[in-house]
Amino acid sequence: MTERTTEGGAPIAIIGGTGLTELAGLEILGESCPDTPWGAISAPLVHGRLKGQDITFLARHGNPHRIPPHQVNYRANLWALRESGVETVIAVNAVGGIHPDMGPAEVVIPDQLIDYTWGRPSTFFEGELEEVTHIDFSYPYTDAVRRVLVGAARAAGVSHCDFGTYAATQGPRLETAAEITRLERDGCHLVGMTGMPEAVLAAELKLNYACLGLVVNWAAGKTDHIITMEEIEAAIAKGMSGVKTILERSVSDLGALSLQSS
Ligand code: HPA
Repeated sequence: MTERTTEGGAPIAIIGGTGLTELAGLEILGESCPDTPWGAISAPLVHGRLKGQDITFLARHGNPHRIPPHQVNYRANLWALRESGVETVIAVNAVGGIHPDMGPAEVVIPDQLIDYTWGRPSTFFEGELEEVTHIDFSYPYTDAVRRVLVGAARAAGVSHCDFGTYAATQGPRLETAAEITRLERDGCHLVGMTGMPEAVLAAELKLNYACLGLVVNWAAGKTDHIITMEEIEAAIAKGMSGVKTILERSVSDLGALSLQSS
């Protein structure tokens, strides 16, 4: 199998999603707000040290949390990270669980995705081009980074699923029960609104990229009640400490690792 991999390990960025606007435990060394050709980034890049490892943190929805998934400037965010020297991105995403093993507060490290979003700027390759570019996207997540996340979850004893096809939906509304049935029929195991175009833009910039998903609710129609903000907040409160533990272990492991083509 050929997985998407690129040379170089550190420097590392963490993109925090819903429930992770700030990273407790990060020793903050500075902030920057770079201009990009694609417009403004979601929030200043926070440069700091986590468990002795230099990292950059970016709050995907802004800080405070105010930018909905379909209005995040994914191109500016990824561009700014790459320009600041980042080579590896861990993307933290709140998701809904479709697969029976993916209940609230479970951590998921998906290995595939299907994109159902529409109307989002989703490529750097447009406008006045010298040539048309079609990147390979067979394996959307960098396997070496996934393996570090899975290894960290296992070592820390955090309950997790090491597989999953992520359905990226448009939002900001949640899905209908029929839409979730359709996603399930398509082979999707988890559903979220921010997985794309972030993953493909990272691939276009040749960044190493993997998703650390936290299930915050059963997907629509999977229970006999409607989805409430209270249950989402409770799952975040329960599951986020596991996510943070995985992040702390993973950045140390990634810092020691030089990712190779495989
Ligand atoms: N659907 C889409 N995105 C989500 C969900 C969901 O159920 N939960 C958290 N993000």
